[in-house]
Amino acid sequence: MHTALNTLRTTPILSVKTESPTVKTYTLKDKLCAKAKPGQFLMLWIPGVDEIPLSVMYAENDRVSVTVKAVGDATRHLHSMKPGETVGVRGPFGNCFTEASGKILMVGGGTGTAPLLFLARRLATKAQRLSFVVGAKTKTELLFLKELNAVCTEQGVITTTEDGTYGLQCLVTEPLGKLLAATKFDMVYTCGPELMVSKIFNLTEQHGISFEASLERLMRCGIGLCGSCVIGKYRVCRDGPVFNAAQLSEVKSELGISKLGFDGERIPV
Ligand SMILES: Cc1cc2nc3c(=O)[nH]c(=O)nc-3n(C[C@H](O)[C@H](O)[C@H](O)COP(=O)(O)OP(=O)(O)OC[C@H]3O[C@@H](n4cnc5c(N)ncnc54)[C@H](O)[C@@H]3O)c2cc1C
Ligand code: FES
Repeated sequence: MHTALNTLRTTPILSVKTESPTVKTYTLKDKLCAKAKPGQFLMLWIPGVDEIPLSVMYAENDRVSVTVKAVGDATRHLHSMKPGETVGVRGPFGNCFTEASGKILMVGGGTGTAPLLFLARRLATKAQRLSFVVGAKTKTELLFLKELNAVCTEQGVITTTEDGTYGLQCLVTEPLGKLLAATKFDMVYTCGPELMVSKIFNLTEQHGISFEASLERLMRCGIGLCGSCVIGKYRVCRDGPVFNAAQLSEVKSELGISKLGFDGERIPV
């Protein structure tokens, strides 16, 4: 790894966009992260609080954007920050999605939709068909509907909400059985809660379809040194965060089941 990537750069927040009651997108100026590819992540330092891993949602012209859900100390503090305030970045780190062609299906749950939108924008002109299933608990938490509709082929976006306030009332995985039976997709990509990833992995295995998923683990160093992000023989920060079907088969005993917690103990996902 190039040492410059791992050097912390301080930079002002250029803009903040509210995406939902709990999710905001932050755009920062950073030459190195602006070269990130879909699937890569950066480590964002929130001064005085913590440093956290975040997937790149967009990168272009010296600018990089991340989409962040407020879940705990660091993310809540970030949500209170305004344009002009300073944060720090390292990265971009990790691997990226392979850019497939043909018929593509993407499945995004929660903020997992962000790196897939980045990928969808890249593949929009290459793909023969681009379909997206996007899910959330409720209507106001559905992310990037307008942006996804702009890049997916006609009627390519299926929405699901758990409470039925928008789209189909079901989990995001529910429409997949029918979709995969009706169309021979060349690649399925996903990012979101690990139980969702694990369900979709099983479905794509049954249908013999290529599959890539971006995984989340607790991360501290982000560069393969500390071991806090292990899954099986892999370190998610260095060998992932994107894993293909063959690699996911090797870690099936942990996928959607257990991970290492803050104290290094194994905890349920
Ligand atoms: C590769 C990768 C990409 C990610 N991309 C995004 C993204 O694009 N948008 C987004 O909103 N979130 C993303 N996350 C999750 C994000 O890092 C955590 O939500 C954040 O670290 C929580 O910090 P906190 O202090 O606010 O919450 P905490 O109070 O620390 O914890 C709240 C919850 O977040 C989980 N968590 C805490 N720290 C981490 C960590 N370092 N890594 C993973 N999970 C953690 C905890 O298990 C807990 O369930 C990503 C995580 C990884 C590993
Ligand atoms: S976060 Fe340290 S090894 Fe992955």
